Amino acid sequence: MVNSLSSGLRRIVVLGTGGTIAGRAASGADNIGYTAGEVGVADLLGGIEAPAGVALVAEQVAQLDSKDMAFDVWLQLARRCAFWLAEADVAGVVITHGTDTIEETAFFLQVVLAAGKPVVLTCAMRPASSLSPDGPQNLRDAIAVAATPAAHGVTVVCAGAIHGALDVQKVHTYRPDAFSSGDAGPVGYVEEGAVRRLRDWPQAGGASKIPEAKAGATVRWPRVEIVTSHAGASGALVDLLLQERASGVAEPVRGLVVAATGNGTVHHALEAAALRAQDAGVAVLRATRCADGRILPKPGDPLRDAGALTPVKARIALMLELMETAAA
Ligand code: SIN
Repeated sequence: MVNSLSSGLRRIVVLGTGGTIAGRAASGADNIGYTAGEVGVADLLGGIEAPAGVALVAEQVAQLDSKDMAFDVWLQLARRCAFWLAEADVAGVVITHGTDTIEETAFFLQVVLAAGKPVVLTCAMRPASSLSPDGPQNLRDAIAVAATPAAHGVTVVCAGAIHGALDVQKVHTYRPDAFSSGDAGPVGYVEEGAVRRLRDWPQAGGASKIPEAKAGATVRWPRVEIVTSHAGASGALVDLLLQERASGVAEPVRGLVVAATGNGTVHHALEAAALRAQDAGVAVLRATRCADGRILPKPGDPLRDAGALTPVKARIALMLELMETAAA
């Protein structure tokens, strides 16, 4: 381990969580039949040269397929980021992550961390065992972003593009360039280790909002479900959730995100059920199913809207809001 304070080096800490970037298949030709989260983060850093003046530190936080991402991993990740970012000689944190939920983790970290230094998530669409893996270049690019002076906030780096945590979405099932920032466009690009920035870094955030447990307890995550509006939609799922809530289950639904059509419109049957839920004390938020754009609210809208947030990000925002309300 390099003692960077005495050596004058800045440290970049690389936290591993698994994903395809750490995936392994039986054959180098197989880019889909692999197991995610097999290769340790220290090994992923094996062939990567640190930028001048930088020492790399590896820490394994989790080792999973990100479809199985869990709240306790998010908490652990947020705490490790906060710990490392507070170290004077740490320039930034890089997180290796699966592509499937990277946008959710990035959004969560953007909201809860006061990231005055860069937190850069990266990933791969091909496993580490591939004949032509994309992970090493993505990791190298993420480290370059984390080493960039004055960078801050949470970003996702993939296929040479830097995406802000609020805007990034996975938009392709297979292509290495699988992410988009939609209307907002990327924050910038990484070209041969140099960052070419197009717009501001994501906000650095104010105070840390990492969820805390009450003494002797674990953090309680309010249950927020997503229901989708579509042709022929009904309110049946919402009514089942309300019945379950009324029956006194241990984790009753506390929030509902309606994945709405277009500019936040909701099938009349689902809207009626969502209003019944709202009347019963469930927090309801509409988020658009559209990949681009934001909901432009109209006077008299009976259900709150989540602006530009996708349904999965709106769900995280609503969970955190409900946690804050419960703590107040
Ligand atoms: C995962 O999300 O962990 C697997 C898929 C991927 O990383 O591309």
